[in-house]
Amino acid sequence: MHLEQQDAAPRTTPEILVVGGGKGGVGKTCIAVNCAVEIARRGWRVVLLDADLSCSNIETVLGYRAEVHLDDFFHQKGGKDLSAVLCQTPYENLRLIPGTTGLLDVANPRYQQKVALIRELRNLDADLVIIDLDAGAHLNTLDFFLMTETNGILVITPERTSIDNAFKFLRAALFRRIERFYQSPELGLLLRRLETLSDFMECVKKADCFEDHTRQQVCEELQRIAQSFRPKIVVNKVSNAYEAKVAANILAKYTRQLLCIEPESLGFLYFDNYVSEAVNSGVPFIVSRPRLKVSACVVDVANRLGYF
Ligand SMILES: Nc1ncnc2c1ncn2[C@@H]1O[C@H](COP(=O)(O)OP(=O)(O)OP(=O)(O)O)[C@@H](O)[C@H]1O
Ligand SMILES: [Mg+2]
Repeated sequence: MHLEQQDAAPRTTPEILVVGGGKGGVGKTCIAVNCAVEIARRGWRVVLLDADLSCSNIETVLGYRAEVHLDDFFHQKGGKDLSAVLCQTPYENLRLIPGTTGLLDVANPRYQQKVALIRELRNLDADLVIIDLDAGAHLNTLDFFLMTETNGILVITPERTSIDNAFKFLRAALFRRIERFYQSPELGLLLRRLETLSDFMECVKKADCFEDHTRQQVCEELQRIAQSFRPKIVVNKVSNAYEAKVAANILAKYTRQLLCIEPESLGFLYFDNYVSEAVNSGVPFIVSRPRLKVSACVVDVANRLGYF
């Protein structure tokens, strides 16, 4: 438990930590689950949401079969009662909102259902909500990622394809935020055709649908929106710290130059064959093998996040 928190008034709104990354199989779920277990062990009341709406699998990693699923929330009229799908896990202070059953209608919830879910997550009686996202950059995934400006974790591996996908994911998230901010069909159309924020600002400067002073104002706002993004990078499956640093630096170089986004480096996790054994055994590696180097890395990540 945070020292400052012990004397403070009870929290009313949980912090939100979203774990995404763009590419499939990079380790988002393993990192979300192991961090959740570690932070809960420290006394924080954590809720883990499996927001992988098509192929959820946190239950498998936690070795636990839930009776209710996110489908049940989406099927409620008005989507008001998230507590109905909040399950106790075998771990103290850790509750789970299990993902969907993967049925087609639930993989694509309606906009109102998603808004209701996001609203209810913010109302949960918890200290921290950790959201495990699916791969890709679908609107559902982006909207969950955009629930928080500074607490989005981006999991990558040192592979070039993972770095590329993470860049595209961040770009899609930034453009989605811009689109939502302006709610302007003209800007929305422009955004769909461009690859970088710099290209977009050039177009805004030339666009005849704006007055001169509006163009200047829009460009300043765009920079402000981009700079308010502070995604935190975790490099997974590395063989050494240098490899992690190189991968994080490459991603940061591109996001800085092309999107005006300055990510923060949150740490790395070693590749360890035991991780996959832990998945199969249904016991998170931080519990069954706390002395492994990969477990120490999870502890470091939790520390850097400030959950002492
Ligand atoms: N540090 C690691 N060392 C070795 N294997 C790992 C590590 N982290 C994850 N893995 C393995 O990588 C695979 C994918 O992990 P995980 O399911 O967490 O990825 P994901 O990003 O959530 O995938 P998806 O996009 O499908 O949801 C698993 O088989 C897991 O055992
Ligand atoms: Mg996953």
